[in-house]
Amino acid sequence: MKKVLIIGSGIAGLTCAIECAQRNMEVILVSPFSSERSQSVLAAGGINAVLDNCDPGDSIDCHIDDTLKGGCDIAGKSAVTGLCESAPDIIRWLTKIGTVFTNDADGNISRRAFGGQSYKRTCYCGSSTGKQIVTALVMEARRLEGIGRIKRRLWMDFHSALIRDGRCFGALFFNESDYDIEVITADSVVFATGGQNALFGKTTGSILCDGYAEGRLLMQGVKLKNLEFIQYHPTTMETSQKKMLVSEAVRGEGGRLYYEENGKRVYFMEDRYGERGNLMPRDIVSGCMAETGRDIFLDISFLGKERILDRIPEVYELCKKYRGIDISKESIPVAPSVHFFMGGIAVNNSHESNIGNLYAIGECASIYHGANRLGGNSLLAAIYGAKMAAASIERSESKAFSADFGSELEMARMELQTLKSSKSPFPVVYIRYMLAETMKETLGIVRDEASLKKGLEEVSYYLSVADKIRYDSSEFAYFGYSLSGILTLAKAVLTSALFRRESRGSHIRSDYPDTEEGFRAATIVSYDEGRIGTELDTEGAYEN
Ligand code: FUM
Repeated sequence: MKKVLIIGSGIAGLTCAIECAQRNMEVILVSPFSSERSQSVLAAGGINAVLDNCDPGDSIDCHIDDTLKGGCDIAGKSAVTGLCESAPDIIRWLTKIGTVFTNDADGNISRRAFGGQSYKRTCYCGSSTGKQIVTALVMEARRLEGIGRIKRRLWMDFHSALIRDGRCFGALFFNESDYDIEVITADSVVFATGGQNALFGKTTGSILCDGYAEGRLLMQGVKLKNLEFIQYHPTTMETSQKKMLVSEAVRGEGGRLYYEENGKRVYFMEDRYGERGNLMPRDIVSGCMAETGRDIFLDISFLGKERILDRIPEVYELCKKYRGIDISKESIPVAPSVHFFMGGIAVNNSHESNIGNLYAIGECASIYHGANRLGGNSLLAAIYGAKMAAASIERSESKAFSADFGSELEMARMELQTLKSSKSPFPVVYIRYMLAETMKETLGIVRDEASLKKGLEEVSYYLSVADKIRYDSSEFAYFGYSLSGILTLAKAVLTSALFRRESRGSHIRSDYPDTEEGFRAATIVSYDEGRIGTELDTEGAYEN
């Protein structure tokens, strides 16, 4: 029986676990926390699919075109085709396993308008779509767990991959329960570790998604891709804990963006792009908001309380609870914040990386979204990618490997000891705080060579002190050993942004404002003894 190790238990990890278990594989699903705490539960707005009762004129081809256009011509065309073609089946599957979608009066799944899409095709569950999907997937995974097809391991933090001769055979984990390193071997290893939010401090996402796995894998020879493409969601609201997402669903229901000038409202998106201005793709809306240099507001009050509570109840509750704003009476103060990472582990259409048996799915993988993701396509990509990986793993040859990973285990244990006895005055959490300040300042919506070089200098300094940190054993050991991986990833992101001397999608360079034909390809990032290499994937090796 093939053994699959899946790291991360959000929507992508859960789906892959279910699919592999149903294909008679032995599944070990490992994560530091439960699925209910994964970032997936924060997904609000919905999941895109062209269903049988679609708007007149809509089609799967149109979903494909919108996605490719939204990605500014560098998303993988055949990957996007598969994604959009599978969307209706994915919605049927989600319904079958118990996802409760919002229905219309005829009992059909309701759809709303979302950014960058020509028709209403975003299926939703109120404004808590991610939570509903996670609930259904957890139920299905528990059923398979009950009959011994999935084994769950919690409180386990990824440490490093076990790679020999270009193939991956498992991973090392820091086991929080016994404060030790543990080896788990497998025929295939799937990373579903989410985005890189913590690099930027407060974002719309979970601070637990810190990109460490990507950084460490890069250092171990895995190629990354398109790291410079970071999505700023146009409508977020400041709270003490995070940048709270004001779902695109608000604009999907008619919400209007404006600023005030001489006591009058200026609907700047409508003035520039007409009726659909508020629902332009996110890179365009955030770029325009930054350009105004003003405080921006979002108004949905005209919809009336009854309809607001029917269509976007969670947004109503969140604004009331965290900012005391009654959105049926007042406008919402909004600003763009980091929301999603189009870049990540470079994978082919089967979701396999350049290292054999090592797969990546969900937000940590880069394949469908090019330079800018459309709202509603991330849940779809997480589920579709997980299914593609499971199918490919089932087809793959399982190669017996009897190596002993004792030396890797010893080295990791020594690393923990070194962290404990280190004496430098730089606490880990402080470096992570400074890193977030650097990233926010130098990798904003608009960047230029000077800001990116400054960012690189600062991150290089943090890296130079990373192995001299003071390790306070009351601190969580993970913070200690993850630091150099996180900083290496940050350096790779800045290097990619410096390398792409053009503006495309979410990567806006004030010093290179035009989109250049010569850059119409993905950026591939590699690592060699501390040096970050960048090249364009002109052959389309990761986009076919
Ligand atoms: O605005 C939102 O509800 C976000 C959705 C998404 O990122 O897909």
